[in-house]
Amino acid sequence: MNILVLNGPNLQLLGTREPELYGVETLESIRTRMEERAGELAEQLDEPIGLEFRQSNHEGDLVDWIGAAPGQADGLVINPAAYTHTSLALADALKAVADRVPAVEVHLTSIQAREPVRHASLTAPACIGQIAGFGGLGYVLALEALVDALSST
Ligand code: DQA
Repeated sequence: MNILVLNGPNLQLLGTREPELYGVETLESIRTRMEERAGELAEQLDEPIGLEFRQSNHEGDLVDWIGAAPGQADGLVINPAAYTHTSLALADALKAVADRVPAVEVHLTSIQAREPVRHASLTAPACIGQIAGFGGLGYVLALEALVDALSST
């Protein structure tokens, strides 16, 4: 099973970016936590789990990666960051592949508990679920939920 993990704009700055909101954990550390959990899940399922982890500040990169995912990945974990609230293009890309590559949306912060402009997610309706508010742990939970969904289909 291959999982693609996509991260949107400014997430490369995790660790130093508004630590009072986003904490001090880096994206690299989140990647390590996901890889560790993927290893455990792979053992339980007796099936290898490949994780491909990417970040871009450019909407088009994310759209391209989602569009190319069928055939490369079985599922997506995505933190679209600010594009969550603005990008019809990302929502359309996720919808276009949803029948072959289901996605779980993740946010470090609880977007519902933040400024009103962050309450709506354009991308969440194209995903099978959303996990928000648990910091880096949310990525691990998203992986777990996605692997469960994929292995029960
Ligand atoms: C975020 C929430 C977004 O509103 C924000 O623009 C981000 C990060 C989160 O993970 O909490 O960049 O997606």
